[in-house]
Amino acid sequence: MDILIIGGGIIGLSVAVALAKTQHRVGIVTGDFPGTAAHAAAGMLAPGAEQLPPGGMRDLCQASLQRYPDWIAELEAATGRSTGYWLCGILSPATAQTPGHHTGIWLNRPELDQHQPGLSKQFSGGWWYPDNGQVDNRLLTQALRQAAQSLGVSFFSHENVVRIEQAHGQITQVITHQTSHQAEHYILATGAWTHKLLSLPVYPRKGQMLALQAPPGLGLNQVIFADAYLVPRRDGRLVVGATSEDVGFQEGVTADGLLSLLQRAIATYPALAAWPVIETWWGYRPVTPDELPILGPSPWENLTLATGHYRNGILLAPITAELISNYLNGHPWPQELSFCRWERFSGNLELW
Ligand code: GLY
Repeated sequence: MDILIIGGGIIGLSVAVALAKTQHRVGIVTGDFPGTAAHAAAGMLAPGAEQLPPGGMRDLCQASLQRYPDWIAELEAATGRSTGYWLCGILSPATAQTPGHHTGIWLNRPELDQHQPGLSKQFSGGWWYPDNGQVDNRLLTQALRQAAQSLGVSFFSHENVVRIEQAHGQITQVITHQTSHQAEHYILATGAWTHKLLSLPVYPRKGQMLALQAPPGLGLNQVIFADAYLVPRRDGRLVVGATSEDVGFQEGVTADGLLSLLQRAIATYPALAAWPVIETWWGYRPVTPDELPILGPSPWENLTLATGHYRNGILLAPITAELISNYLNGHPWPQELSFCRWERFSGNLELW
């Protein structure tokens, strides 16, 4: 194995596919953790609606958004699977045109109603982001896994990594609860679990979610992003998110969390109060102190970092895969992406 990727979420899988296409022999070691972001996410592709401030992160998210159509077309053609990619636009209704990092088009109330009838009367208008959209993150995960398998990526599944070992500035092996793995190069894509393996400040930020079933023909026309976000899948399922809780790896949904989600969702689109709840779940966003990802080289020559994508991991998958693949294929890490490097945090990086 040339390259071992630690972590089989969206980032690990996307990087694996990109590297396997460039003739590397790639393996992925992936454990069984409840609440992975790949499963829990809503799949919004929302750099505008998330109101990212101007700067490197917004540029990175926009660049990834632009890659989405071709990235998905190639993946769907290679696997024969749908990923639910839908450039449906995102509408952010608002009670007033307050200041913020708005990059969308302001719609007045009649224009808002044309886009989406039935929104709460409290809204005076809304921001419209026609180039934002969504992908079904669960279908995307399955497609990436199939693509990786077809490209010969080896999966070491159900193996929780317990330790990474080093000697003389190099990673020497990865120890799982079952066995050990060696490779020439290692990529860390461990999301919210990163701080369990080394002293990088990536922690879980819990989100509770639920899904409703829209009556036939009454599904929303696009994503609605207000106090809660409402993400309509093409089959009428409506994904509602999300809480944002600093509670470590506390599992499960709570009455309080679901109540707050439902109140916010109904306050946005009152008709959904009558729709059946078909699923509830939770997951952990991998958050860093500055809410920016950690990408690129590490102090160990043969370990590259791809973690901490926080609220934008699904969106950032194509650009992360491209950047990490370019780097491992000999390109220098881009200067303009130094804001993503681990060195911005104080202290030395240590393996536990
Ligand atoms: N990207 C939406 C969220 O993290 O809740």
